[in-house]
Amino acid sequence: MLSFQLGGVVLLVLVCFLLPPFSVGIRSFPTRVDVVVGGSEMGFDGLTRFAEAPDYRNGAECPVSINSSGVALRCDPSLVHIAITLDSGYLRGSIATVHSILRHSSCPENVFFHFIAAEFDPASPRVLTRLVRTTFPSLNFKVYIFREDTVINLISSSIREALENPLNYARNYLGDILDPCVDRVIYLDSDLVVVDDIHKLWNVTLSGSRVIGAPEYCHANFTKYFTDTFWSDPLLSRVFASRRPCYFNTGVMVMDLVRWREGNFRKRIENWMELQRKKRIYELGSLPPFLLVFAGNVEAIDHRWNQHGLGGDNVNGKCRSLHPGPVSLLHWSGKGKPWARLDAKQPCPLDRLWEPYDLYKPPQRHQKSVRDQAWRFSSSILVGYAHDLL
Ligand SMILES: *[C@@H]1O[C@H](CO)[C@@H](O)[C@H](O)[C@H]1NC(C)=O
Ligand SMILES: *[C@@H]1O[C@H](CO)[C@@H](O)[C@H](O)[C@H]1NC(C)=O
Ligand SMILES: *[C@@H]1O[C@H](CO)[C@@H](O)[C@H](O)[C@H]1NC(C)=O
Repeated sequence: MLSFQLGGVVLLVLVCFLLPPFSVGIRSFPTRVDVVVGGSEMGFDGLTRFAEAPDYRNGAECPVSINSSGVALRCDPSLVHIAITLDSGYLRGSIATVHSILRHSSCPENVFFHFIAAEFDPASPRVLTRLVRTTFPSLNFKVYIFREDTVINLISSSIREALENPLNYARNYLGDILDPCVDRVIYLDSDLVVVDDIHKLWNVTLSGSRVIGAPEYCHANFTKYFTDTFWSDPLLSRVFASRRPCYFNTGVMVMDLVRWREGNFRKRIENWMELQRKKRIYELGSLPPFLLVFAGNVEAIDHRWNQHGLGGDNVNGKCRSLHPGPVSLLHWSGKGKPWARLDAKQPCPLDRLWEPYDLYKPPQRHQKSVRDQAWRFSSSILVGYAHDLL
């Protein structure tokens, strides 16, 4: 374990588990073996099962990783870096996101996942790490522990009442959390699937001195993201005076971490959050500070990379349809989530597009088959190795 010292405050503790010798052992089991992680002693309510994902391998034309050991691997320039949060509430979504990326990637072994887990997640980062490892035995990844107190004092009380997940703010800390050698990252929410080669998004150019890239929506009414207090204060609203701000969704962002760190953008976002604690300048949580800092200075990425809003409004049962144009990424932002609607047997038509990436296996009570026995055998091995190493 290592701890990062930032401005005198210990922000993060990071834990890395790269266990190549053990993944070989696990991979020798049949690919349909289920993995069970759960039980009350691990903090899960009941049993959570995920099937092992197929082993996605590089094509012949893929660049060969120059070094396949530990830190050196993470700094390999041929890698695509993805940051995604990992929490027990959205676990099924995060697993499906990872699965979708691997499935459509031209070079799946060249994708490196940086998972951010909350220190006090009910399932514990340790258990979440083990679950990722057993679901994707050959995945290149690292799990970082996000300390909620990093951000909890910056979240204004009005928002905190709504019990917003501090992990929503993790995207603001990627410049500090990720290894300094990682100079670009794609941040992705956990309620989306990628249906195209992630290398295409990775290759997007951030022109000029732009720090982030994301699809922009200039027809959206930008005014509504901020309060009257904000717009009526000439000093504050002047922040947009020299730009043409457009709404963008922070669930899909290509981030230049070199420019981010140099420009101290974490602090710029935190400054707005501090102001929000004194004056209510916006209503939502993690999005408005990003708009304040970046709107109008964002590299406009093709809309195909964020077909958002598919979650719609679950309360009223309204289903959304796709925006016109090609689709590379489907995003169930909004209240409804595809796994919840599928489980309730009330899916929206587009939820069927999420389903093929779902690796969750609901418990089957009545089938005591050979497959069940194979599972019991493998799970005891997994628990044994996990206790040794985690
Ligand atoms: C891989 O990295 C390790 C540790 O940095 C180093 O000792 C080793 O020589 C490297 N191997 C290759 C083939 O570059
Ligand atoms: C991305 O860029 C690299 C380096 O320029 C290139 O080799 C690769 O073919 C590109 N990949 C895609 C999918 O565009
Ligand atoms: C944009 O939203 C604001 C605040 O909700 C509203 O007052 C204004 O009329 C809207 N503008 C348009 C063009 O819809």
